[in-house]
Amino acid sequence: MKALIIGNGGREQAIAWKIGLSDMITHIYMAPGNGGSLPKCHNVPIGVTQFDALAELIKDMGIELVIVGPEVPLVGGIVDFLKADPQLSHLHIVGPSKAGAELEGSKEFAKAFMLRHGIPTAKYRSFTSETLEEGLRYLREEEQPPYVLKADGLAAGKGVVIPETLEEAEAEMREMLGGKFGNAGATVVVESHLTGIECSVFVLTDGRDYMLLPTAKDYKRIGDGDTGLNTGGMGAVSPVPFVDDAFMQKVEERIIRPTIQGLHSEGIDYRGFIFFGLMNVAGDPYVIEYNCRMGDPETEAVMLRIKGDLVGSMLALKEQVLGQMEPLLEFEQVATTIVAVSKGYPEGYQKGYPISGLEGDVTADLQIFHMGTTAKEQSIVTSGGRVLAVSAMDGTIQEALDKAYHRIQRIHYDGITYRHDIGQDLLKL
Ligand code: AMP
Ligand code: GLY
Repeated sequence: MKALIIGNGGREQAIAWKIGLSDMITHIYMAPGNGGSLPKCHNVPIGVTQFDALAELIKDMGIELVIVGPEVPLVGGIVDFLKADPQLSHLHIVGPSKAGAELEGSKEFAKAFMLRHGIPTAKYRSFTSETLEEGLRYLREEEQPPYVLKADGLAAGKGVVIPETLEEAEAEMREMLGGKFGNAGATVVVESHLTGIECSVFVLTDGRDYMLLPTAKDYKRIGDGDTGLNTGGMGAVSPVPFVDDAFMQKVEERIIRPTIQGLHSEGIDYRGFIFFGLMNVAGDPYVIEYNCRMGDPETEAVMLRIKGDLVGSMLALKEQVLGQMEPLLEFEQVATTIVAVSKGYPEGYQKGYPISGLEGDVTADLQIFHMGTTAKEQSIVTSGGRVLAVSAMDGTIQEALDKAYHRIQRIHYDGITYRHDIGQDLLKL
């Protein structure tokens, strides 16, 4: 069977690596892909929002399985688009409908959905430019520092601002409603601040049943010790040690099942991954955010830990028979991912630096997944803010970290930057 993975990041490379291990998969097309060259994979220069060209590719190549990596095409309705094509009725698609992707596409929708279904999340109100004065009053009278302001729509991970003072919060609200994030900020959600430790829980669902994937924790800030600006994610560890059976049981009962039942009861078609961004507040899980896709770089750690074949589960989504599949098993070992970025990221950075040290040493428990790279003539050069994800699996967090850090030290490009403290907080627990 031929598969298509839509996207160009490390997440898509990790999924390609995993499904490429399956006997069921003969070819994998990556649209548009990056400088990574995994077995069975071929890049096709089609962008993630070129829906017509993607549909043509699927028909021309006889592709039977499509996995949509990033949120932008999902929120843009790629799944509905492909499903509406009578020539593609055979297609297996991993990714929710446009209505389902609203869990990520609109924070206001997600909050209202959680309220309707009794899913624990921080208290909130939302405001638009028409209700700015009311919003400022709400900040003054109903909230206290730190304040949490979120642009409603997709803002490439930059739409959440957590000001420490009322003055900053008021200024931020004015700026957001004044167009700082364009249309994504036309509505602003104000949330109460939750204190706890974050973790990510992933499921694959067919809209009726779900399968748990390994948990992970990511590291969002650019600097060691969780300092500096937010990024797309600088590293990951899977599993998360504080997610024990008791916590997971609460997550399933209070969050995962009500979410899937809520989608079903509202007639929303959802056959794909759900990423629950959670806060563990004194042992109780709260939803910080939903994403309608896997996380990046969490996927680069999670895929190493999945035993067995993920493709069979993906093929169960279409006929909604996931409940008949055996649960996915996980390796007991720990996987860690260290992300190497360009100097200057997440602000401005230069591209086009040749990368060395990529060859050799790639095994089932040590992988280098390309993120922002391009093949240029005979070499691989940097082409994005996040450049490479080095993932390693071993018996303990420390051993997995040692393996990943040891490997990343052999990679060179001008300005290579990475965090040196991934997983250190978990070692102290
Ligand atoms: P999001 O894009 O929704 O994941 O938010 C980005 C980050 O902001 C999260 O990973 C949290 O660290 C933080 N955050 C978001 N909402 C809250 C909240 N209600 N309380 C505390 N921190 C939050
Ligand atoms: N690593 C966080 C995300 O993918 O949204």
